[in-house]
Amino acid sequence: MRLIDFIPKPYSKTLDNGSVTWSSPSNIALVKYWGKREPQLPENSSISFTLSACETITKLNYTKRENNGNFSFDVILNGEKKDAFKSKIDTFFKRIEAYVPFLKDYHFIIETQNTFPHSSGIASSASGMSALALCLMSVERSLSEVEINELFFTQKASFLARLGSGSACRSLEGPLVVWGAHQEIEGSSDLFGIKYPFEVHDNFKNYQDVILLVDKGQKQVSSTLGHNLMHDHPFAQERFKQAHDNISALKLVLEQGDLDMFIKIVESEALTLHAMMMTSKPYFILIKPNTLEIINKIWSYRKETGSKICFTLDAGANVHLLFPEKEAKNVLKFISTELVAHCENGNYICDNIGLGANEL
Ligand code: PMV
Repeated sequence: MRLIDFIPKPYSKTLDNGSVTWSSPSNIALVKYWGKREPQLPENSSISFTLSACETITKLNYTKRENNGNFSFDVILNGEKKDAFKSKIDTFFKRIEAYVPFLKDYHFIIETQNTFPHSSGIASSASGMSALALCLMSVERSLSEVEINELFFTQKASFLARLGSGSACRSLEGPLVVWGAHQEIEGSSDLFGIKYPFEVHDNFKNYQDVILLVDKGQKQVSSTLGHNLMHDHPFAQERFKQAHDNISALKLVLEQGDLDMFIKIVESEALTLHAMMMTSKPYFILIKPNTLEIINKIWSYRKETGSKICFTLDAGANVHLLFPEKEAKNVLKFISTELVAHCENGNYICDNIGLGANEL
């Protein structure tokens, strides 16, 4: 697919008003995306597990109006008007207008809600942007005379979601999604995420993710700022190469079910992401003392029990615990006896690997 393939032919149908609703999950990267170039293209390929319980549900109401050269929309979060989100969506609409040229012909009411608490420190941009991109694709489908097939629909929705928030393009399908061209992953592209195209060993089926909410506050450094600091980063090129090599290594791990190697790659990726932050100019630290307490306890627990639990981190202090389903009972006991003490107000979210977005 090329950029030009995402520019639609003039729409032949007209729609006065209507609404569409999509739910779309969050995702957690195993090999991380950190560093981008314009327009929102990744410096390295990344791969993620799609989550299931943590999702955004977005209803897009549209009403035809006179095109006055501006976007017209309202955002409603959990039933309340949220003007704070408007500038982000305005930027998103500007970036995608060439690909969905009906945007200025409608007034939109974007009603959105997350299944996870708003101030949980879990980024809602991946689930939120992917849900909105899917809603827009549903509108485009209704405006088009030509049949839009499922593959194109999903690819274009992922392409649009990427322009809203890079990692959002990995939320549409599951259980594993790759974003960023990699010569060993057939069909992979910098423009959109694709479903991981190979067989995955049973060891990884229905993997669990418990998110320990260490710090529910707003991030001090946005991911946009962090990505940009990779431009002059002394270790950038090495890092991009490492991520590329880790995708190759993970491909073998996913095929063979090698849980020990999985742990090594995933934990190294998490720590490298934060090492990049700590060695940026200016440097910054997003992990908290409790993040390290949890990591040390995971390492002890693994040593004592032979468990295959491991951790990963996104751009914040919260810890994602990844483990095979058959360990769920023991791990949940370990969490409640050892780890809850390090979570803000004892809060954590139990999730598992899911299959992506759904139209409701
Ligand atoms: O999609 P963004 O711009 O919020 O960046 C997300 C970056 C990480 O979550 C840290 C890593 C990743 O690949 O999801």
